[in-house]
Amino acid sequence: MKIKNICCIGAGYVGGPTMAVIAQKNPHINVTVVDVNEDRINSWNSEDLTKLPIFEPGLDKVVAESRGRNLFFSTEIEENIQKSEMIFISVNTPTKTYGDGKGMAADLRFVELCARKIAEVSMSDKIVVEKSTLPVKTASAIKNILDETGTGVRFDILSNPEFLAEGTAMRDLEIPDRVLIGGEKDKYGQEAIKSLVDIYSSWVPKENILTTNLWSSELSKLVANAFLAQRISSINSISELCESTGADIDEVAKAIGMDSRIGSKFLKASVAFGGSCFQKDILNLVYIAKSLGLNKVSEYWNQVIVLNNHQRERFAKSILTSLYNTVSGKKICFFGWAFKKDTNDTRESAAIYVADILIDEMANIEVYDPKVSENQILKDINYLETRSDEKNKKYISVMNNPYDACRKAHAIAILTEWEEFISLDWNKIYKNMNKPAFIFDGRNILDRENIEKIGFIYKGIGKPQ
Ligand code: NAD
Ligand code: UGA
Repeated sequence: MKIKNICCIGAGYVGGPTMAVIAQKNPHINVTVVDVNEDRINSWNSEDLTKLPIFEPGLDKVVAESRGRNLFFSTEIEENIQKSEMIFISVNTPTKTYGDGKGMAADLRFVELCARKIAEVSMSDKIVVEKSTLPVKTASAIKNILDETGTGVRFDILSNPEFLAEGTAMRDLEIPDRVLIGGEKDKYGQEAIKSLVDIYSSWVPKENILTTNLWSSELSKLVANAFLAQRISSINSISELCESTGADIDEVAKAIGMDSRIGSKFLKASVAFGGSCFQKDILNLVYIAKSLGLNKVSEYWNQVIVLNNHQRERFAKSILTSLYNTVSGKKICFFGWAFKKDTNDTRESAAIYVADILIDEMANIEVYDPKVSENQILKDINYLETRSDEKNKKYISVMNNPYDACRKAHAIAILTEWEEFISLDWNKIYKNMNKPAFIFDGRNILDRENIEKIGFIYKGIGKPQ
């Protein structure tokens, strides 16, 4: 099928950047990103490019190049489905918070709503592309809904999971390690695959475009995230061992990473991984395996989550024990709230959970993050429903510069590896803090020798104590 118009449902962290790049590289195709969230669409259409709804280095340039030419953001969902030959579903698939599979399975209600809407309004054949991360076999459910509730037009389903990481999304989209496209083996399936391969071929070398069957594609996305997260839990488990033995986690990571069979990437010990996907996708994998009666497989992957939760609790507890077993009334300054640098995304950020534990201990937390708003920070902590909004506000406050945030603090905890933290005037910070002044470097970004020379007591992850 010749594709002239693409509609993407979901203008989030994936839909926005992905479609911006597809539009930039295919000026002959009109790409419209639609969403039910009017505020989000207005922000995508904002004249002021600093007001785009997500912060992602380089995104503003790509949007500026194509927006209004062949890239559009709209709330007119039905019209855009109707006029497009290819429709991407890029809506959120969070962990279920109710009913069967609560706390583990993926909540597919937004995906199902999209399928029903597509079926209801489509008057011509469509290729429907799963861009969201979905449990293996979801394509057959989508196909059923489309065929059973549709108007008699033909629907072909493709799976095209997204592998971008936030903070490096534009680079990841520009030079992807691979693009994965799963489809049916029949003639129509193969034609649909070809239509999508053609779109990516505008900038991705053919050998980096991998085509598979639907189920391999759906499952590979969950497995890729599970393997990545597993590496972090593995190195974090060793960080605890390092602290008890005098070994240094960064030295160990370097030593093992130089083995080409292991590789050096994704071996940075930290306060714990966060983000909207690792936990959700592993829980989903655990749930699928359990549902199939594969209990050992399920338990195996669940340990990645167990270890991650342990790591962030361990970090919070080490602050408590180092500060003489009481943080009540003490000020702890958080540098960073986002789940990683170069993003304003805070979903499942370790900072939220560490703050929650310290607030339970009646610590006063003052946060500085260069990209996260006060509103978002309060929303995140309230979301846990541990205590009332008023109580949270009593214990947590937000500053818009790091020097004010740590005035009279007893300790600084580094939760996000923002580059700007490395080059702060640490002498000035030290002078303004309560003594002894502690630094809990949850990202191991500071030069320990310099920091200790200034007078700080330094505690890194997996560092000799
Ligand atoms: P997001 O929450 O940022 O965006 C999803 C958008 O979909 C929201 O704006 C929401 O309003 C919209 N939406 C929901 N239901 C809708 C409907 N029925 N009609 C129209 N719009 C609707 O989510 P995201 O981070 O972009 O993730 C989307 C999917 O991509 C998820 O399955 C996720 O696992 C996957 N993924 C995310 C990343 C990432 O880095 N965030 C990377 C790879 C894959
Ligand atoms: C991750 C994957 O890297 C992407 O390939 C995938 O598309 C995406 O999830 C998704 O499906 O949503 P993302 O979560 O955006 O991307 O960012 P990562 O760079 O993977 O970092 C995730 C978390 O792990 C962050 O909290 C980060 O600080 C932490 N991390 C990462 C470590 O603690 N150590 C490391 O060595 C690497």
